[in-house]
Amino acid sequence: MSETGGKPRILVTFGTRPEAIKMFPVVQALRNHGGFDVRVVVTAQHREMLDQVLTIAGIEPDIDLDLMQPGQSLDALAARIVTRFGEALDAEKPDRVLVHGDTLTTMMATLACYFRRIPVGHVEAGLRSGDIYAPWPEEVNRKVTGAVADLHFAPTDSAANALRSENVPDAAIHVTGNTVIDALLAAREAVIADSSLAAAIEPLRTRFADKRIIAVTAHRRENFGDGMRQIASALKRLASRDDVAIIYPVHPNPNVSEVIRPALGAIDNVALIEPLDYIGFVAMMEMSDIVLTDSGGIQEEAPSLGKPVLVMRDTTERPEGLEAGTALLTGANADVIVREVSRLLDDRSAFGAMARAHNPFGDGQASRRITDIVAEASGLS
Ligand code: UD1
Ligand code: UDP
Repeated sequence: MSETGGKPRILVTFGTRPEAIKMFPVVQALRNHGGFDVRVVVTAQHREMLDQVLTIAGIEPDIDLDLMQPGQSLDALAARIVTRFGEALDAEKPDRVLVHGDTLTTMMATLACYFRRIPVGHVEAGLRSGDIYAPWPEEVNRKVTGAVADLHFAPTDSAANALRSENVPDAAIHVTGNTVIDALLAAREAVIADSSLAAAIEPLRTRFADKRIIAVTAHRRENFGDGMRQIASALKRLASRDDVAIIYPVHPNPNVSEVIRPALGAIDNVALIEPLDYIGFVAMMEMSDIVLTDSGGIQEEAPSLGKPVLVMRDTTERPEGLEAGTALLTGANADVIVREVSRLLDDRSAFGAMARAHNPFGDGQASRRITDIVAEASGLS
């Protein structure tokens, strides 16, 4: 039982859009269990993009640290998180904290727990590219988190193997699937129940009815500068085709928007839009033919939706799509991006080979499994 005398207090924390998407099913599953005192503390490392997810998921945080600052630097943000999240821990006194993935929120919240000897469960543990500068700084964020956590929720066998190779004890590793699939299935069900939830993309569906649609996102730090310019140049060349339309929800990071908007803003068959809420984005991926991204989560969602995904990175910590032939690395290299997208557009058999739905990342039950394991670790079962 809890130090606070009642149910075990489990504090779930996250700060960015992808963490929120992948943690809302965990919050819901912990609440549905009934045996926990569940608390949610958001760092709000992201502001608007986090709020989009909180609204859809119906989660009201118990504490909102509201830490985002425009154009924030890694060191200043890291310092704000460890200090302010530490204060939240002192106020909340949780029995366990659950963090997700590989952001600064993940690593700094974990360090604040370590400084207080509070156990940490790491959701989406064990992803590794093997290169500390790609993705940067995520590879080190997740390794530091893994060094502290005592429960590691690995999405796949290959993530579990990466942890074993770092001498994480076998008993601490649990292959649960990735909670992104729980979130994806929930989003699809929500649209089936109420199609108006995806209304934001309907004008685009009409406007581009006769086009092959390429869905694009890009935001990785290691692509800032030349990488973003290469991506913009590739999209411009692809948009010169009459049969193509590009839909691109632009990440608000100024390193992205200040390159992409001037380069592509005036092209008729390129729709540069604000970030979509999760339900709108899932619906947008479903109506697309090809997904072009440097995102982590989208590499997991696209195969599940049967969409070929071209990954604008040199390496990935998600090898499952590459191995199955439904994902391909292009780097942030304009010539390679144009070549590979054109091949998919022009070669039906190449497209057919990549456009296969498969689900190496999960079965929609990850949050329930994580909840059961946390219950056992908390002495509830
Ligand atoms: C962060 C994570 C990255 C994750 C990505 C998901 C770190 C170091 N980076 O990168 O791992 O893949 O989120 O998107 O943890 N901004 C807004 N509104 C928002 C969100 C961001 O204006 O809702 C702008 C702000 O100017 C902010 C900037 O984007 O300072 C950068 O945000 P930050 O969280 O530091 O980095 P991301 O590139 O978003
Ligand atoms: N996403 C969204 N709206 C958008 C773009 C992406 O809801 O306009 C979702 C997407 O479905 C995925 C997540 O955001 O679940 C990915 O976030 P991001 O690419 O910012 O971060 P990463 O996954 O690279 O850490």
